[in-house]
Amino acid sequence: MLINMDDERVLAAVNAGSVPLVLIERKPPIAILKFNRPEALNALNDALIVDLARHLEDLDKDQEIRCVILTGGEKVFAAGADIREMAGRGASEMLRTDRLAKWEALRHMAKPLVAAVSGFALGGGCELALSCDIIIASQTAVFGQPEINIGVIPGAGGTQRLARALGKYRAMDMVLTGRRISAQEAFEFGLVSRVVPCADLMGEAERLALDIAAKPPLAMRLAKEAVIRAEDISLEAGLALERRFFYLLFSTEDQKEGMKAFLEKRPGKFQGK
Ligand code: CAA
Repeated sequence: MLINMDDERVLAAVNAGSVPLVLIERKPPIAILKFNRPEALNALNDALIVDLARHLEDLDKDQEIRCVILTGGEKVFAAGADIREMAGRGASEMLRTDRLAKWEALRHMAKPLVAAVSGFALGGGCELALSCDIIIASQTAVFGQPEINIGVIPGAGGTQRLARALGKYRAMDMVLTGRRISAQEAFEFGLVSRVVPCADLMGEAERLALDIAAKPPLAMRLAKEAVIRAEDISLEAGLALERRFFYLLFSTEDQKEGMKAFLEKRPGKFQGK
């Protein structure tokens, strides 16, 4: 679905590199993906995005993993798409290779994704965070869509996701001025759900991911899908969808176990069946 023949060249570049562009740490039931281009402030070049998409695809199929954290480390989340790589490209090449479509890998992920943001999350970095399901931030996090300053606009969902998440006027304020907002402002805007000291960020992210991972996976999957669909369908259609998902979950063993466990006053043990 995400990786196709057209990516072979980029994948070859990923494999040829001695240092992986995305580091993976599997700690079942969670996994942590960390961008690893510190010399370029984790600028998101084609190879990194293809590598990220490949990891996400694998983790979505991985039976032992129930929640994934995306991070960039303490200093920077990601300073956006790689300007050096894009600068000389023409529109026909951009259209033909359609590299930004690869960024949709996050949108196709059925499992919950937590963005743990510290330092700059600019341009495509901000957009990657916005594509996750929950964003938690360190006090040093800075969000922004500065593309307007370099003659373009956000290209990986920024205009659409910010407009939906913050409303037209706050989205315009960010997209038209390219100004950066602090973690605190992002929290007040509702973009970020928790702000913690830098040293606590990964601990907090892991606690959150483990909490999510302990829930019944099928209910988790449908809960995520229902909330995402709320962004682009009518309330009537959304309520009908939610009701169908609700009824569908009564065919799962996890629903039987969850309700039985409640009545027996013990924690539920969920198998994802
Ligand atoms: N692309 C490529 N390289 C980048 C980069 C980017 N987005 N951001 C930083 N770098 C590189 C710099 O070129 C520099 O490399 P050299 O040492 O080889 O010169 C290195 O990272 C360190 O950067 P700075 O010296 O600029 O560090 P700073 O601390 O002074 O500033 C910053 C940090 C404010 C984040 C600044 O680097 C910056 O403004 N970066 C660009 C942010 C940006 O415009 N992002 C949007 C990109 S377009 C996009 O994302 C499109 C989309 O929607 C998909």
